[in-house]
Amino acid sequence: MSGAAPVLAPDLVDGLRRLKLAAMRTLAPELLLTAKTQRWAPEELLRTLVEAEIAARDASNARTRLKSAAFPVIKTLDEFDLTVSSVSNASFDYLASLEWITAKENLCLVGPAGTGKSHLLVALGVAAVHAGHRVRYFTAAELVETLYRGLADNSVGRVIDTLLRNDVILIDEVGFAPLDDTGAQLLFRVVAAAYERRALGIASHWPFESWGRFLPEHTTAVSLLDRLLHHANTVITDGESYRMREARAKGGTTTKKR
Ligand SMILES: Nc1ncnc2c1ncn2[C@@H]1O[C@H](COP(=O)(O)OP(=O)(O)OP(=O)(O)O)[C@@H](O)[C@H]1O
Ligand SMILES: [Mg+2]
Repeated sequence: MSGAAPVLAPDLVDGLRRLKLAAMRTLAPELLLTAKTQRWAPEELLRTLVEAEIAARDASNARTRLKSAAFPVIKTLDEFDLTVSSVSNASFDYLASLEWITAKENLCLVGPAGTGKSHLLVALGVAAVHAGHRVRYFTAAELVETLYRGLADNSVGRVIDTLLRNDVILIDEVGFAPLDDTGAQLLFRVVAAAYERRALGIASHWPFESWGRFLPEHTTAVSLLDRLLHHANTVITDGESYRMREARAKGGTTTKKR
């Protein structure tokens, strides 16, 4: 016998293609041969094929969810160095458990530039994607811009409904740019729609008492914060900018080394 690769019968190939069992179709020839030479029980062969198909589907679904999450970069929780962060181990562990997402709680990350807010937000989003959740990341400016476009064709409600198909909506850079009255109202509509229905993760430079700086209308700011903070985990990222720390370590800044 030559060592030619085993081939699956054409009717089986067609059937598996019709049923969209691509992983089984690819693996079946080799596995049928292995099963024969190693005298597998028939059930073992079936199980191996089914498990391969499930694993391939899970991986493909995770890739799709990762794409639709629209993360600007990929960050992981493993890469987050807790020893240089003000985030406590307990907070980090709770957030990493993703229980807050299932419980439809919110996460508010507040702290100065370069202290890991976006890193944490994205890394938690990536972990959530891998755990099977649907996630969508925006900067506040992108979100408001998207909603503004909805105003033009009267589809804001639909845009928000689509957003709420996600298990967690991440809004980064809240307060980077001030919002006009309409922008603030639109942001309020998202927070109100998600209230107790979906988890929200937000990150901002501004402590809550300063949100009046970028939310022009006092009542909007109060009502928005009221809903946002009702079931919220607030985490303060404090201290020196990680960017500055890295730049200094590389000798890339003019800051005097001690
Ligand atoms: N504790 C940390 N461990 C590892 N990397 C970190 C940590 N904190 C920050 N970084 C890294 O430092 C850089 C800046 O962090 P990040 O973008 O999360 O800051 P930020 O708080 O969102 O800042 P800004 O308010 O300016 O948006 C990123 O490359 C991030 O991966
Ligand atoms: Mg950031």
